[in-house]
Amino acid sequence: MPALLITQGRVIDSASNSSKVADVAIVDGLVAAIGRKLPRSPAQRVIEADGLLVTPGLIDPHVHLREPGGEHKETLATGSAAAVAGGFATVCCMPNTSPALDTPEVLGFIRDRAAGTAICRVFPVAAVTRGRKGEELCEIDLLARAGAVGFSDDGDCVASAGMMARVFAAVARTGLAFMQHCQEPTLTRGASMHAGEVSTRLGLTGWPRVAEEIIIERDVRLSRASACRYHVQHISSGDSVEIVRRARKEGLPVTAEASPHHLLLTHDACDGYNTLAKVNPPLRESRDVAAIVKGVADGTLTVLATDHAPHTPDEKALPFEEAPFGLVGLETALPLYAEALVHSGAISWERLVRLMTLEPARLCGLDKAGLGSLRVGGPADVTLIDPDTRWTISPDALCGRSRNSPFFGRKVRGRAVLTLVGGVVRHDLTGQPVA
Ligand code: DOR
Repeated sequence: MPALLITQGRVIDSASNSSKVADVAIVDGLVAAIGRKLPRSPAQRVIEADGLLVTPGLIDPHVHLREPGGEHKETLATGSAAAVAGGFATVCCMPNTSPALDTPEVLGFIRDRAAGTAICRVFPVAAVTRGRKGEELCEIDLLARAGAVGFSDDGDCVASAGMMARVFAAVARTGLAFMQHCQEPTLTRGASMHAGEVSTRLGLTGWPRVAEEIIIERDVRLSRASACRYHVQHISSGDSVEIVRRARKEGLPVTAEASPHHLLLTHDACDGYNTLAKVNPPLRESRDVAAIVKGVADGTLTVLATDHAPHTPDEKALPFEEAPFGLVGLETALPLYAEALVHSGAISWERLVRLMTLEPARLCGLDKAGLGSLRVGGPADVTLIDPDTRWTISPDALCGRSRNSPFFGRKVRGRAVLTLVGGVVRHDLTGQPVA
């Protein structure tokens, strides 16, 4: 593995609260030195990073890699290729696979496939109930010992309050977080988009905001008894943000994540029965978008995730009500977040980096392994970001197996131009010589 020297970029590290122009030297997969003007040696590959941001490798705590069982949509190999193209050095994959990630054996399968085929770090989020059916608690301690970095039945909500109380008690013992897909199922039966003017006009059954809000409200109340870490996935409703804000003010260990599409799109994107904009929870209205942006800006929402959810063209060509929910996000999240949050003036690049590195690392306990920060002696997971480069999102820019994005044709600013995972170059658009 050749030694690397990244010169004169703006090095942003949230763990040490620093943002300064510096060089970063990398040797044997580790950060060897960070300093103003480090000595060069002939054996190093030098990467000029003038005008670029040098950040810890981005971490996405919420992706769907479809393996096992959905390899026609994505695999650990193709999903990790999409990840590094978007600047992610680490992703955490959700358990709604077939079979579900609900036993130590299946987690072992993910670990082995990741080691053999993935080009970024992949950590599994385990199911909390068997088969994600919400009926029988999984063996939580065994799953934690087998490498789970969190628990969730994502794709589905743990709907029963009784089961949720047991989940909190069991997950609390592990110190890991429970991540809820907040959807009260009896309020969303047959629903395929946000309940509002567009669903009414299109003649589609609506998914009302309250189905998300009452689950968060209920879970916050239940979580008090156990002090379990509770994380709200892909928040979509403005009032949900307010519930999280109150819980955090109370000092509860509650966190929540935003996703790019809920920060930039509304239910109008579903007009014309556009299945590429069909996602769960659904795209809502501009007041929800504004509340989510405000929630990020005021520190209520501390994690940014993609909810990368690949589906085939055939599936997305089905009538709106039958098409699956979800859109891909790994390659496009960074410029979309920059548009919604940085270029709009809501937060700084430094804050954005924190929400895509240190905070997701803490959510999944990966900070203990040195991920999410840039520290001498720590793993050389590094992302170089060109904050100003302009490009247009197109199918050609996607590297995963699926192409279901509602953002094609959008002109964006900012891109990951280099991704290092453990000191290995996994994505490189710098155009600088490798030798
Ligand atoms: O839109 C979504 N797609 N939301 C989810 O929660 C699951 C995901 C999927 O797995 O396709």
